[in-house]
Amino acid sequence: MCGIVGYVGNRDAYPVLVKGLYRLEYRGYDSAGLALIDPSGNLNVYKCKGKVADLEKYVAPMDPQGQIGIAHTRWATHGVPNDANAHPHFSQSHDIALVHNGIIENYHVLKAALIENGYSFRSDTDTEVLANLIEYVRRTNDCSLLEAVQSALKQVIGAYAIAVVEKGNPDEIIAARKSSPMVIGVGEGEFFLASDATPIVEYTDRVVYLNDGEIAVINRNKELKVFTFDNQESRVDIKRLQMSISQLEKGGYSHFMLKEIHQQPETIVDCIRGRINSESGLVTLSGVIANREKFVNARRIIFVACGTSWHASLIGEHLIEDICRIPAEVEYASEFRYRNPVIHPDDVVIAVSQSGETADTLAAVELARSHGAFVFGICNVIGSSIARATDSGAYIHVGPEIGVASTKAFTGQVTVMAMLALTVARERESVDPAVYTEIVNGLLELPSALNEVLKIDGQIKDLAKIFTYARNFIYLGRGYNYPTALEGALKLKEISYIHAEGYPAAEMKHGPIALIDNEMPTIVVAVPDKTYEKTVSNIQEIKARGGKIIAVIARDDTTVRRMADYCIEVPVVTECLMPIVVSIPLQLLAYYIAVYKGRDVDQPRNLAKSVTVE
Ligand code: AGP
Ligand code: GLU
Repeated sequence: MCGIVGYVGNRDAYPVLVKGLYRLEYRGYDSAGLALIDPSGNLNVYKCKGKVADLEKYVAPMDPQGQIGIAHTRWATHGVPNDANAHPHFSQSHDIALVHNGIIENYHVLKAALIENGYSFRSDTDTEVLANLIEYVRRTNDCSLLEAVQSALKQVIGAYAIAVVEKGNPDEIIAARKSSPMVIGVGEGEFFLASDATPIVEYTDRVVYLNDGEIAVINRNKELKVFTFDNQESRVDIKRLQMSISQLEKGGYSHFMLKEIHQQPETIVDCIRGRINSESGLVTLSGVIANREKFVNARRIIFVACGTSWHASLIGEHLIEDICRIPAEVEYASEFRYRNPVIHPDDVVIAVSQSGETADTLAAVELARSHGAFVFGICNVIGSSIARATDSGAYIHVGPEIGVASTKAFTGQVTVMAMLALTVARERESVDPAVYTEIVNGLLELPSALNEVLKIDGQIKDLAKIFTYARNFIYLGRGYNYPTALEGALKLKEISYIHAEGYPAAEMKHGPIALIDNEMPTIVVAVPDKTYEKTVSNIQEIKARGGKIIAVIARDDTTVRRMADYCIEVPVVTECLMPIVVSIPLQLLAYYIAVYKGRDVDQPRNLAKSVTVE
């Protein structure tokens, strides 16, 4: 959660910081602030409740000066969103200003000790404790800022990325990370600092990803230095960024979410590029082939993920069992890590994460590795923590996803899972060649199928208008499309704030059918598959109780068409890939309902894109 930006160099820092905050706002948006050291050496903090635009309105008239500064957009964990709790936090003497992403778990113990030593606090945050602790250590030990940060962080339990500046030290920012991301952009005589590379890309393509337990000393007059908390110097590994600015803009769409929904025909092409040989029709995921034995001999495949990535994993589980014939399980990363799970060295654990920064998923990766399992990552963000913490992996290559509601990442994840399953199945000889070819052809047909389905955007918009009144929704699906139903419900919940539940259609009669009345719309995925006839019966049961049915059907469907109140027609591809096709109208429906309700689609309340706290 939260976005951190920093700059030191010869430019005015304020515009760089504010622009960076806008880019990172998707990570948290309840308050924002910045600290600058002005040319006279004063350390000034400007911060307020609200979004980056509110900060800009408040700060711009003051004409903030300085060529060094740090900034923050917050997703509150400790203390309500208000001006006092916004970052940066000053230390007691106002000599040090600090921004922080994450949680200081033992803040109350540290706070009590600081209070005993004469410190008082202006905010309710855990962060202010760290600002004061650094100051306290610096003063009592008469040490450098770097040494004070190192020593303070050794006393801290929790997850964090921090950036610190100090009055009288106008050339230097100290940054550190443990379980929260931090990227440093290396320019000519200038450095940038950010929670992800999006604020950096327009200035430089040379970046350094800090590792856990590392502290960077970023000084405009010196080379970048990186140390461990124990002051061992680490090698600075400069990487090239693969990102363009146009990927970070809305490109004419009213929201990032709508842009990202419409990008899906292209993102699927990017995802399968170089992985399917058009002549031989063979699929190869290099990360799988390089670890062939691990996959071929896997005793079990365990997916760990959260949210949308967890839904994609349910489809992955189905694919792995269906065509690889390897037992598969899906775990909420947050539960897995605290459950003392049984993990064998010959299990393969697949961590699925768009951001590659989700704290629970990262912890699950570490747990699995500590049990000796082989861990494979399916991530979107290149160089992200999970991508680096796993033994191997496959990127989904769908480009930056900025809308908080995940869309193109979901379809990219399912696409990679299908390719992974095909690669493993072929190596294990567990799949009928005709089925293999059918799925490969399905993958190749996906971009045009998605282009087709996007043509009904206007129709979905009209449908959304009809249902904006609803206070509850049920989403039903079976087999491969049960996770699609869960995902459709999550999309609606998170951006429209309408209560929605996803169920396997046949479960209705075990309880949820009691909810059905003529006010309750039910969205049913009824595309051709093994359980189509059963789904038809489930629709009848709902109709018989006065429920309203919106059915997602194949174009040539005549049966459900007669029963449903409204139909959404989609092109048909092979069964296991239908979730990719079906999820598009469900994304659009959630999007338009949220727009009609006047919701903040790209930045829904209480949420943040990258969940880097537990
Ligand atoms: C999806 O729309 C969500 N906002 C959320 O559930 C997300 O999928 C989850 O937090 C996991 O994120 P990750 O894929 O970046 O790990
Ligand atoms: N725990 C800190 C706070 O509540 C930082 C939260 C964040 O990552 O934005 O202020």
